[in-house]
Amino acid sequence: MYIKKKAEITKIRKSGIIVAKILENIKKYIKPGISTNKLNKICHELIIQEKSVPACLGYKGFPKSVCISVNDVVCHGIPNKTEILKNGDILNIDVTIIKDGYHADASKMFYVGYISKENNILCQEAQKSLYCALKVIKPGILINKIGYAIQKNIRKTSFSIVKNYCGHGIGKKFHEKPQILHYYCKQDNQIILKKGMIFTVEPMINLGSDKVQIMSDNWTVKTIDKKPSAQYEHTILVTKYGCEILTHQSTEKIPKKLNNIIKEKT
Ligand code: MF3
Ligand code: CO
Ligand code: CO
Repeated sequence: MYIKKKAEITKIRKSGIIVAKILENIKKYIKPGISTNKLNKICHELIIQEKSVPACLGYKGFPKSVCISVNDVVCHGIPNKTEILKNGDILNIDVTIIKDGYHADASKMFYVGYISKENNILCQEAQKSLYCALKVIKPGILINKIGYAIQKNIRKTSFSIVKNYCGHGIGKKFHEKPQILHYYCKQDNQIILKKGMIFTVEPMINLGSDKVQIMSDNWTVKTIDKKPSAQYEHTILVTKYGCEILTHQSTEKIPKKLNNIIKEKT
């Protein structure tokens, strides 16, 4: 039931390339003094230029085209005219588009000017956790291996993993089954990955406590201790030998197609 048909994979692959392009092209606009609303506007225009639809706009009432989450905002930040970026800020831009009826979803961290060493390590470790997860994905593994790989990486740090949000199947719908947990859960052992599954992995890593709260706008999620949070997200296809990163960007530190099958010595 989670397996995508060939024609669907082709479409989601195209959507993924567009999402990657938006994330690559927005970088040059991120400077002290720009508002998150302006960044939203630029992303919106880039999405329209690609003849695709911003999936966040109007999704369950979300008012903007992308989510922008600055510093202690964990996710679902609403771009705002009065929110002006300043030197030292870290932010996540989360882009989801629909092209030809199919979604792709990815996000990454951006730095404003010079950021603190602490924030730099936080962002690096968030990306590394995502990569650790992608490096275990292959047909035949239990779904909870993904969260296990993330937890194994974060255990080595003083950071914490947000438990309230998870990755998700994606396709015709924005959020499909299965849920992808970003921490180890022994009981989450009912699904075995198969070739043709498409889902996101999107760990949110906090500098301090993993506790979060939703603000009165009913969207913005913040850390309760006001310490920063970082997130990286990709849309992934499970392939015969591992996985393909459908939202792979040119700045990536791992290849687009991962071979995760260890060749046995003969
Ligand atoms: N892109 C987010 C995710 O990774 C979901 C954002 S929902 C929105 O699943 F409504 F806030 F846009
Ligand atoms: Co997303
Ligand atoms: Co997502």
